[in-house]
Amino acid sequence: MNAVDIPVMNVNRQYAQIQGELDTVALEILHGGQYILGEKVDNFEKAFAAYCGSRYAIGVGNGSDALVIALKACGIRPGDEVITTDMSFIATAEAIIAVGAIPVFADCTPDTYTIDPCEIEKKVTERTRAILPVHIYGQCADMDAICNIAKKHGLAVIEDAAQATGATYKGRCAGSIGNAGCFSFFPTKNLGCCGDGGMILTNDENIYRQCKAMRVHGSGKDALFTYGLWNGKEIDIDKIDFGGNLPKYYNYIDGYNSRLDAIQAGILHTKLKYLDDWNNRRREIARRYDSEIINPLITKPFVAEENEHVFYVYTISTQRRDELRAYLKSNGIVSGVYFPVPFHKQMVFENLKCVSDAYPNAEFTAEHTLVLPMFPELTQDEVDRIISTVNGWKP
Ligand SMILES: Cc1ncc(COP(=O)(O)O)c(C=O)c1O
Repeated sequence: MNAVDIPVMNVNRQYAQIQGELDTVALEILHGGQYILGEKVDNFEKAFAAYCGSRYAIGVGNGSDALVIALKACGIRPGDEVITTDMSFIATAEAIIAVGAIPVFADCTPDTYTIDPCEIEKKVTERTRAILPVHIYGQCADMDAICNIAKKHGLAVIEDAAQATGATYKGRCAGSIGNAGCFSFFPTKNLGCCGDGGMILTNDENIYRQCKAMRVHGSGKDALFTYGLWNGKEIDIDKIDFGGNLPKYYNYIDGYNSRLDAIQAGILHTKLKYLDDWNNRRREIARRYDSEIINPLITKPFVAEENEHVFYVYTISTQRRDELRAYLKSNGIVSGVYFPVPFHKQMVFENLKCVSDAYPNAEFTAEHTLVLPMFPELTQDEVDRIISTVNGWKP
């Protein structure tokens, strides 16, 4: 990349804008000495739950762990089938494998690229236990249809909202609609930290307590509660005597080391108040791309009526994708492909023996879409340059 290239995403500009605030909070935590969980994490969890309109939030190590822990807390066990989209980042499917369950891929729709509810219906079997929709690119999946299918078949819904912090579906926040919602705070996400971080949202106290237990090695009172829940045993937790020892050294269920650390929580809490402005700026850039990109060879994103998109990425499609990418590159504009291989074609999943012609839309997405630069700090001049360059493409 040349110095003048416009990147797809950029984290330095956001840091520069609020450096004073972020440095202060990070230093305060460094001096304070509480580095993992603690008050900063509690406060951010409360603020994030309130922002999303959810009862509980559990900060975890990253978005991938959020999915694993949420799946387990929703009762997914080895041999269960979980239906998810064929078009997402690997972590979505990997999480299903990590709990010993079987991912069953459903094609996406050709316009929103989110999981197609009609395809979900076709994949439900006696072993299906959950649906894992992904709010891909920053737009929610068709949650009413998905929740109706789940209700009809008694399935859990775990939302992968890693790319959609702040997006809404019929006015409800991404991640707050299903049994649990999972977020990633990877630095380039709409709300990103300065390292790894993730969050689980839920309105269900049992799921909340299970998640809290699992993130700390399955230890302590929440873990004992979870042990009771999983084994059908009534346990009076308040009567348990730890003999003066730390409850964290008493382990009741299999767990993980997956905690949000305090510096990341402090940074995220500081950034949360800017999230709506940043998402609005992303939408403003998207509106400019929508109205001013007039190259007939390019199809622009479709936003379903019930959705407020947050444009984690701005995804366009064209029959000659690789030529367009090369042209953009030669004109100093970096593009990306999200994602070049649909799950059913990933070698890691070859043992699933997916029927290869069942995913025409995911295949189209993998072969024909690209993402243009999208981050709130893009300047008007850069947006002008991207638009005029795209319009000037005549292969
Ligand atoms: C759709 C989706 N799910 C899950 C994840 C995993 O998040 P993390 O990188 O924080 O583990 C990502 C991250 O890129 C993602 O895009």
